[in-house]
Amino acid sequence: MFSKFSQYFTKKTFGYGSLSLLSLVGINHQLQKSKTTVYSKENDEINVCVTGAAGQIGYAFLPLLLTGQCFGDKKINLRLLDVPQAESILQGVELELQDGAYPLLKSIKTGSNESILFQDVDVAVFIGGFPRKPGMERKDLLTINGNIFKKQGQALDTVAKKTCKSLVVANPANTNCLILAETAKSIPKQNFSALTRLDHNRAISQIALKAGCSITDVKNVIIWGNHSTTQYPDVNHGTVLGKRIRQFINDEAYLNNAFIERVQKRGGEVLAARKNSSVMSAANAVKDHLHDWYFGTKSGEFVSMAVYSDGSYGVPKGLIFSYPVTCSNFNYKIVQGLNIDEFSKEKIRITTEELLSEKADAFSA
Ligand SMILES: NC(=O)c1ccc[n+]([C@@H]2O[C@H](COP(=O)([O-])OP(=O)(O)OC[C@H]3O[C@@H](n4cnc5c(N)ncnc54)[C@H](O)[C@@H]3O)[C@@H](O)[C@H]2O)c1
Repeated sequence: MFSKFSQYFTKKTFGYGSLSLLSLVGINHQLQKSKTTVYSKENDEINVCVTGAAGQIGYAFLPLLLTGQCFGDKKINLRLLDVPQAESILQGVELELQDGAYPLLKSIKTGSNESILFQDVDVAVFIGGFPRKPGMERKDLLTINGNIFKKQGQALDTVAKKTCKSLVVANPANTNCLILAETAKSIPKQNFSALTRLDHNRAISQIALKAGCSITDVKNVIIWGNHSTTQYPDVNHGTVLGKRIRQFINDEAYLNNAFIERVQKRGGEVLAARKNSSVMSAANAVKDHLHDWYFGTKSGEFVSMAVYSDGSYGVPKGLIFSYPVTCSNFNYKIVQGLNIDEFSKEKIRITTEELLSEKADAFSA
């Protein structure tokens, strides 16, 4: 009797159809809540889809999402997408989410069908993708992931809300994001971004370590360009304790060489030490990116996001390029008017060239 009712309740409330679900945490609690919270204003809840949810970053990110660290106290209708082969793992993740008894978790839908999982989503976090295998050419990786992101872009275009915001994490993140944005044509290009916040956080952390100060004392570093080893971590506009980073650190050789190289190659450093790629820090960066996009950046501060290039700083239009941005109300603005010296221009040119070449490869496939 109870299970029949709960089945009826969940289908009626969420229209899940045949998908695996029922992750309403504490059913008695939820049944009571259904009269007050579950049927509350749409404003109070948010539909979030995470792709690659059976993977490592998904596993580390979900607890951050469900403890309100991205969207505050909004209730979350969670959709978890992964490939059919990962179904059992996804079920395990769902079991653990139930056991987490997260008060913000309103419902869970799991599966491998984008057209179902993207239905009416407000936010889509694209962590799932095909990993680079030994001996694989970059062009092959671009082609395989390009096909994944074309398919997902078509589904997003058809069934997601037109206001849906997308964050692409899966590599090659910038170009995957470009393919997604170009395919989901009915959604504004402003709604798409790729993750370079991990690189941004790495840069802040390295400066804080060098300066011997706390993380919050370092402001306004910039990651320009691609989430790859050609990215340009730029300290020229940043401060430590209110003083220019270059003046505070007073070590040009370090800032122009070892610092840049360390941030560019940090992923490899983690991989070599951990025998596994960056996961905890990547999930934390996903949280930071979504939080700041949604709630806004602090006054006088900017962060790095890879977004649709509009010609700013001489970067050709139509790339997903990491820029300094300010955010408010789930919108971003590229910071304008920064003075770019010759050293920086050359670094920005190199990463731009790489993105143009990725775009050419991806779109010629
Ligand atoms: N942008 C960044 O800063 C950054 C940082 C770290 C990792 N990454 C990238 O994030 C991605 C995920 O990393 P991870 O450690 O979680 O990898 P992972 O291999 O643990 O998980 C990836 C998941 O994606 C799933 N997947 C594959 N194809 C899919 C598809 N078509 N639809 C849905 N799901 C699909 C896989 O089944 C797997 O569960 C990788 O591409 C990685 O290179 C990006």
